Amino acid sequence: MNKESADPARDYAACLTRVAPLADYVAVNVSSPNTPGLRAWQAGDALHRLLAALADAHARLDRAPPILLKLAPEIDDEVLGALLAAIEDAPIAGLILTNTTTTRPSGLISRRRGEEGGLSGPPLAPRALEVLRRSYALTDGRLPLIGVGGIDSAEAAYARIRAGASLIQLYTALVYRGPRLVGEITQGLARLLTTDGFATVAEAVGADHRVPAPRSQAAASISSTMARAAASGSGACVIGRPTTSAVAPARAASAGVATRA
Ligand SMILES: Cc1cc2nc3c(=O)[nH]c(=O)nc-3n(C[C@H](O)[C@H](O)[C@H](O)COP(=O)(O)O)c2cc1C
Repeated sequence: MNKESADPARDYAACLTRVAPLADYVAVNVSSPNTPGLRAWQAGDALHRLLAALADAHARLDRAPPILLKLAPEIDDEVLGALLAAIEDAPIAGLILTNTTTTRPSGLISRRRGEEGGLSGPPLAPRALEVLRRSYALTDGRLPLIGVGGIDSAEAAYARIRAGASLIQLYTALVYRGPRLVGEITQGLARLLTTDGFATVAEAVGADHRVPAPRSQAAASISSTMARAAASGSGACVIGRPTTSAVAPARAASAGVATRA
């Protein structure tokens, strides 16, 4: 979006019309933190005007690629719920979750952590995962979701898939680790899927929503281990590592990228 535009909704529609013949999908970015006021297009009257302009342009296309709406990690539940309702009748094929964050999660160690701009990489991962999980739950898994934000390993990709992502995007981790990371993730994913008894990625999409929450599983495992320990009189208790692990905060702190462009 051109920040000086008199009619941003029309600009989005014009851009869709121009790129449609060339694109496999079109991401409509209403969440870059670097364009003042852009995130306002995620809600209210602005969102409705944008969706109407996109619907009109999309209907006129000979070759109409899917449109994906890209949201901010700071989106709150109320705005997210209203947006999901608004896109039901719009030509929005799915959501990309999420863009960079304007917050500065605790644990950042870079001396540049106070810089303005969107922060990417592992510090963003917990919030991006949460917005994805919430979107999947609110849509009962009916809307394709693309997980992005701090994914840098097979475990992180798998957590996103289990929370509801049908596709994964990498940005910052590719900068730090290079294209070899893609092979590492796909091979690791194959192992993680087999361990959990899934034959395909599709089977694992949203799996967290169909089993007891990891927390209660851990609690059940802790209580049964403690019960066994108490029964044996040993008093010792070993708590197993869950199959999907969160990204280590120290690594997260060192691998973020702040963007201003
Ligand atoms: C240098 C840089 C430039 C970016 N430019 C855009 C952009 O133009 N449009 C957009 O929607 N997202 C943009 N992003 C956001 C990324 O597409 C992605 O959503 C975000 O960085 C989180 O993923 P990551 O942690 O894997 O980097 C940019 C991110 C970075 C680091």
